[in-house]
Amino acid sequence: MIAQRKDDHVRLAVEQQHGHLGRNQFDEVSFVHHALAGIDRPDVSSATTFAGITWQVPLYINAMTGGSLKTGEINRDLAIAAHETGVPIASGSMSAYFKDPSCADTFRVLRQKNPDGFVLANVNATASVDKAQRAVDLLQANALQIHVNTAQETVMPEGDRSFSSWVPQIERIVAAVDVPVIVKEVGFGLSRETVLLLRELGVRVADLGGRGGTDFARIENGRRELADYAYLEGWGQSTAACLLDTQGVGIPVLASGGVRNPLDVARALALGASGVGVSGGFLRTLMDDGVSALIAQISTWLDQLTALMTMLGARTPAELTRCDVLLHGSLRDFCTDRGIETGRFARRSASLDALTEMTGITR
Ligand code: FNR
Repeated sequence: MIAQRKDDHVRLAVEQQHGHLGRNQFDEVSFVHHALAGIDRPDVSSATTFAGITWQVPLYINAMTGGSLKTGEINRDLAIAAHETGVPIASGSMSAYFKDPSCADTFRVLRQKNPDGFVLANVNATASVDKAQRAVDLLQANALQIHVNTAQETVMPEGDRSFSSWVPQIERIVAAVDVPVIVKEVGFGLSRETVLLLRELGVRVADLGGRGGTDFARIENGRRELADYAYLEGWGQSTAACLLDTQGVGIPVLASGGVRNPLDVARALALGASGVGVSGGFLRTLMDDGVSALIAQISTWLDQLTALMTMLGARTPAELTRCDVLLHGSLRDFCTDRGIETGRFARRSASLDALTEMTGITR
């Protein structure tokens, strides 16, 4: 049954990529263009360091799959792409491995094809400490993701209906496993309140996993006989909104959910992400055009991200947080209601101060 679910998820996620995805709230984030802010490309480094982890690039392939024959092949190809391009890669949920250890190879391939890469294991928030450590061990993982997905479970026909154990279980796993723990949403977003709680539990990093890309309410609804949860499609906060909501939460955040192109990567980094994850968009490329196309796509994104940073005058991903950014439309409304001051994002580069100093002209 799990193997069938994994195949369904891939099929429905790719269908979604072919269909309704288009605009999202990243479109409501724009950079102020400063025509003389540019720097020299050799001075740009895209390496990012957070929570004691260093990645050479701030882009990663986020959690997707494993557990069936077909998804094992997908994991093999994703791992080859990660190895060729140097991006970190996360496994899909490893529950299938706990239920049926004979599918171990469909996950282990992530490490076999990518021996020196940064690999993240993935479990749900009900996993025992022993299982969490077994997941890490199977992949010789560098970090562990715990996914939290109440909206998905609610719509999933065979999903969990009890969630109250998740908080204490996350705390137990964090205390016991020997790698950093990242808690992630799967496309509904982590709120400020949630991330502050995760910080209290000892979680090292939060992957905001917001709305705007793959919609698991829609995917699970497509697996229901009556498809009677259509009204939950679009549930949650967008990734851009989550980034604004979690400013200054005290632990590093990763951004994923609805990242469509290198500009979205730059936008997420400018709003404070330490790294940016992509799932559905990369899966679509792999399924439609094969592994060489995925390698080409990731290489192009990394190249263009460096080009954008050169134009914007950011020598590192962290320096993008000094770029002036305008927030528009419904994203701005979200900020107003959540008490987030938007003007400071538009006036944070040194250039206005420097200009005032140089010219003596104030506005
Ligand atoms: C996912 N995602 C996911 N996340 C997770 O933590 N464990 C999992 O097993 C899965 N499985 C999965 C399967 C497929 C086919 C897709 C496309 C995605 C969620 C994923 O990591 C991510 O949070 C969301 O997909 C949002 O990002 P995108 O797709 O909009 O880039």
